[in-house]
Parts: sequence; C-alpha cells; structure tokens
Amino acid sequence: MGPRARAPDDQAFVVTTSGPAARIDALRREIAEHEYRYFVLDAPTIPDLEFDRLVRELEALEAAHPEFASPDSPTRRVGGAPSGGFAEVRHAQPMLSLANAFTYPDEPRPHREVEAFVQRIAEVVGTDRIPFSVEPKIDGLAISLRYEHGRLVVAATRGDGTTGEDVTHSVRTIRGLPLRLRGGASPAVLEVRGEVYLPRAAFEAMNEAARERGDKVFANPRNAAAGSVRQLDPRVAAARPLAFFAYGVGVVDGLDLPETHSATLALFRELGFPVAPEAGTATGLEGCLAYYESIGSRRDQLPYEIDGVVYKVDRHDWQQRLGFVSRAPRWALAHKFPAREVSTVLEGIDVQVGRTGAITPVARLRPVAVGGVTVSNATLHNEAFVHGMDLRIGDTVVVRRAGDVIPEIVGANGDRGPDAPPPWRMPTCCPVCGTALERLKKVRRQTRDGIEYEDSTVVVCPGGLFCRAQVAERIRHFASRRAMDIDGLGERIIEDLVDLGYVKTPADLYRLTLDDFVEMKRRADERDGTTPETARQGRTATKWAENLIAAIDRSRSTTLERLLYALGIRDVGEATAKALARGFGSLDGLMRADEAELTAIPDVGPVVASRIRAFFDDPHNREVIAALRAGGVHWREHAPQRAAAGPLAGRTVVLTGTLASMTRDEARARLEALGAKVSGSVSARTGFVVAGSEAGSKLEKATALGIPVLDEAAFLALLDDPTRAP
Ligand code: IVH
Repeated sequence: MGPRARAPDDQAFVVTTSGPAARIDALRREIAEHEYRYFVLDAPTIPDLEFDRLVRELEALEAAHPEFASPDSPTRRVGGAPSGGFAEVRHAQPMLSLANAFTYPDEPRPHREVEAFVQRIAEVVGTDRIPFSVEPKIDGLAISLRYEHGRLVVAATRGDGTTGEDVTHSVRTIRGLPLRLRGGASPAVLEVRGEVYLPRAAFEAMNEAARERGDKVFANPRNAAAGSVRQLDPRVAAARPLAFFAYGVGVVDGLDLPETHSATLALFRELGFPVAPEAGTATGLEGCLAYYESIGSRRDQLPYEIDGVVYKVDRHDWQQRLGFVSRAPRWALAHKFPAREVSTVLEGIDVQVGRTGAITPVARLRPVAVGGVTVSNATLHNEAFVHGMDLRIGDTVVVRRAGDVIPEIVGANGDRGPDAPPPWRMPTCCPVCGTALERLKKVRRQTRDGIEYEDSTVVVCPGGLFCRAQVAERIRHFASRRAMDIDGLGERIIEDLVDLGYVKTPADLYRLTLDDFVEMKRRADERDGTTPETARQGRTATKWAENLIAAIDRSRSTTLERLLYALGIRDVGEATAKALARGFGSLDGLMRADEAELTAIPDVGPVVASRIRAFFDDPHNREVIAALRAGGVHWREHAPQRAAAGPLAGRTVVLTGTLASMTRDEARARLEALGAKVSGSVSARTGFVVAGSEAGSKLEKATALGIPVLDEAAFLALLDDPTRAP
C-alpha cells in the first residue's frame, strides 16, 4: 500500500490514520475476523445485518478508491475465470491416500483390520498405548492450499497425487477459508491440506431447486462439491455454500510445526482455518474404537457427510519412523462406516397419495442394508424423475440413504435385454379413492437470470375432501385457527375421528353429538389399551367433549373468506381466499364463475383459476359444501367488489426468519396492504424474499434460485417507499 498523503511542504510522507486507506485496512481486518469467528469458531459476535453493513461500507470505499484494491480483500473472493481451462499444478510434496479398514459386525473379530493396524504400529514404536489424532473422514474433495508469505497463492486438487488442477478461482470463494493467514503469520511457504465439502443442508436445497427446474440432480454431496469446484466460472462456486476443513500439511518453510498432529490442527485453527469440531485425540485400539462408535452414532446428525473416521499416529517423529507403503502412510488409517450407497433390484413402482393430494411414485426395492438400515422403498419424486432415469421394473439400481433423508435412487443400469418391460406410466386414477387424477399444466417459467424452464408436471388427486389419504390433513386445515377456528380440535382427536370412521369430510363435524365424542374416546382408549378417563374422572370426563361441541357450534358462524380458505382448494391460500370473497361476494357467484371471471381477480392466474374451477366442478366437493350448509354453517354475503390494487399488486413475497421490529403477521399485513401476495414457500414465481435473523432453508433456496433478498433494513425502507421494491 502506498503513502497516503503528502505533507503540506511536499517533502515528507505522512501516513494518516484516519483516511480511507486506514479505514479500508481496518474494515478488511474486522471483516476477516468476523468471518473467522463465524466460520471457524462457530461463535459470531455480531448480527448478520451489522456484518453486511461492514461489507457494504468496504465495498463502497473500495469502489471509490480503486488505488487501494487488494486481491486478498474479503470483497474479492469472486474474481475472474481462468482462461483456457484448468492449469496443471505439480505438488511439491505428493498428496497421499489412506489405507481403508472395515468393520464386519457378523464375524468373530469384527474389528480385525483396525487391530492389525494398531499392532503393526506397536511393533515399531514399542507400545500399544499409542496416542492418535482421531478425525471424521469428510466426504468431499481433497485440496492443497499453498500460502506464500501468508497469502493464498494456489489451490489445487489432488489429481493423481503428483499433479492436480489449479482451482484457485473457485476455492477462493469458500467463505471462512483465509485468503491471508491470521495474526499476520507469514512463513515463506505453508501448504495446508484438507477437504472441500458441501454441507448436507446446502446439498439438499441445491438438489431441490434443480429438481424444480427439471435439471439433473447430484447423486451425493461429494459429487456436488467436486462439480462446484471444477467450474471455470467462479460465480458458480460462489453461489454454492462450499466449506473447508483442514486435516493435513504439505510443504512447510519458515514455520516450526508442533510435535504432534493434533497440535498442528490447533495451530491451523489459530491461523484461520476451519478444523472439524469432532477432531480429537484417543489412545490405543480401545480409544480408536470408542471414537468410531461415538461418531458413528452421531453420523446422521452431523451437518456434513462423512464416510468414516481417520486415525493418525499423533507424534510426528513416530510418523517418520513408520513411513509409507505404496502411496499410503503406515501411520494413518481410514476406518469406514457402512456404505450409504448400494445396489439392489427395482421390483415395482407404486404411487403414494400425500396429505395434500400430490401423487408420488415410490420404488419398491428388494430389501437391502444401506448405512446400517434395511431399505425397501425409495422416493421417485415425480414422473419426470422416473422417465429421466428411464427406470424399468427389474433394473438394478443404486440406492442411497443419507441422514434422515428418505432413501433415493441415484442411478440405474442402462443395459437390459430385449424383453425389458415398457416404460412406467403414471396411473390415471387415485389408488385410494379412485378419482381421476389431475395433471397440473406445465407452465413456462423464467428465473431471475432469464433462464426459461418448464415446471415438472405435478399430478394430484383432486378428491381432497373425501380421499381417505387426505382426510385427516384436510380436516386439520379446515379446523385451524385461520380457517374455521375450531378451538380444541387437535391433531390427535382428528386422527381418532377419522380412523374410527366418525368423520369422512369436514361437514361430518357438524353432525357429531356429545355421545359420539364420548363413545369415540372410549373406543380409542380400548384400542390403545389406556385407562378410560371416564373411570378415573367421573363426570368431568365429558367436559372436553362439551367444550368441543361448543367450539364446533361457534365455528358455524363464519365469513366467506374463512370458509374458502378452509375448503383447502389447491393454491388458494388466505390472500387468494380474501380476494375471491371480496371479488364475488357470494359462494354461489364464485361457484358459477368461469375462468375469465376468476382471472379478473387480483392474485388469480390461469393455473389457480383452473384449480378453483376443477374443485367446484367436482360433484363430491359440491356435496360437501351442501352438507356444510345443511349442518348450519353460514356466512354473510355481499355484492361483488372490485379489489383495490396497490404498488406491489401482482408481486409475491416470502417472509422468513425473525424480524426485530415486527411480528410476521404484522409484516404480512403491511405487505398485503401494499397489494403484495405473501406466500409461504419460495419458487421461481417469488418476487423477493424478506429475510430476518436465523433465516433458514427458504433463504438458501432463494439464493439458489437467484431471487432478490431484502434484509430487515431494506424491508423497512421498502415499506416507506414501495417503489424501491426489487
Ligand atoms: S488424511 C496422508 N484426513 O480421504 C493422509 N484425509 O481416502 C492423507 N479425507 O484423499 C489424507 N477426511 O480426501 C485425511 N480427516 C481426514 C480426511 C481425509 C477426508 C479424504 C481425503 C483423502 C481421502 C483418502
């Protein structure tokens, strides 16, 4: 950095401490420190909003003062793309691999391979009380980071161990990976090795977004991480929340390493590198096996994918004595967990009716153990997924089970004989209620960056109010606070009512008597083997039923918008129900409306209009409505009104996270008052997302889809001046 200002006499250089250069420098340090606290220590000390403010201030200063640009500024993680593809990088010290050991639970000595490893070491070092560094084996992509004089100069893949690819441009984008060593450390050379990985949640969000776009999904987080790192355009990597854990060291010059590996990892953490929080130390065979069990039992809860644990002799001098056999160190071992991916046979494809009527194909598999659990079903998501993989009954398929995620098919063999069964076809009727299935129209959509795609077709059972698969969920929705608001009609009671045959449609609620409830409860208690409350509590046992009957009775007097929302018409949320109630004024008017009249209502597009039409055309649904009326449900009707527009009319907004200045209901009301539609889920149609603190998967999805995100400050500014909407 050059001198900052000249003294008035133009003779001596004076370095100011208050000019833009000093501020830029201070901001860079402060931001790097906050990134360290967030990504490495997992203990942020300022809210995200404040952090963003610092970054924005730095960006503004750097834009105003290009003379102070620096490639290792935290604002410069995303740089240019390498021209002419990936350059080769020769590793000054080869990147080795690890010998593997497995556990054989059904054999007399399940851990014999680990025992042999410890035994071999004991013979060389003269004791079996060996201190080990023990670490999770991250399932990602090995990377070597070369720092010269404290600055990241090259990041390279492992390649064949001797020569890898230069992926500096995409690895630089990994937040929490230091562009400069922390604390001003500046050895001539330090090579830090570790794993680039994609956290499980990010992987799932990324695949879900790809699935929605009809794009190919990645089979596992490792492939997704490798695919992201090996991208020429650094913006692709930057858009994916890749992460890094340091676990090893390459060439070192000008720095004294500690005597043990575990102390080296601690030093790496000091220098600014993330190290897996599960890394630790253990002694001897017992210590290693206890670690294996402990990590294994937490495998599904870890936020990243691991395929085993690694044991490393902790003392560097012992590592030297042990040396190498072919390309693996004799002092380290990967102890693998049961595989997450295995092959089996696809024996059939069924369809399942979800609680909202969505029809999902499900693979019936020849039962197989995956990741320690026997799997016999796997979701096939939708029709396009089955056809995209060209799955046929009898195929050998690769099944993957990770964490609590539903098992998935990630590949199939393409070569099959001439007698292969024909491609699978979606049934035309609901397997539960027999209603003709509805195929929701394919809609052309555009993402923010202008890419056009077709929504993958969704097939639904329109028998919402009487399809058994959907009844309990429909009734729960019907009774919910914002719908008919039947106080005390909880999930448990609804399930018993449905299971024991007291209620098939919401209208049946209005026929229930006190005796029905008491009898239902007695039968449920008998079924569950619980002591009947009547026996214990005498007269008060019917109090809850009396309260319920009263709550049901109160719900008879309602409003048209509540009723419309309560009916659970696909895609008719509260905002649409309100707009329809206002626009038509009466249920009969709405039930007669054609699609043109429906689309005249703000908020209602052709797709929603066709859903509304299909709902009211269905004779079963008309019966339910007639039965509700007969059961005494009533509401005030009025003449049709033209709904007011607003500056945000036609925009769909999603709220996520917690806002400091108002509740979510208030935020929703403010947005609706401006004409916006507030939706609960992010899709390509979302106009923008308002993200408060602790925003989760919706924010990730919005980022993945390239949808603008407003923080609380920007949201408040927008309420003041809606023309600022993105
Ligand atoms: S040490 C000389 N430690 O596993 C030792 N590797 O199967 C070299 N891996 O290529 C590797 N977590 O990509 C080591 N804690 C860990 C690891 C780890 C994941 C990967 C790494 C390596 C592969 C070997």
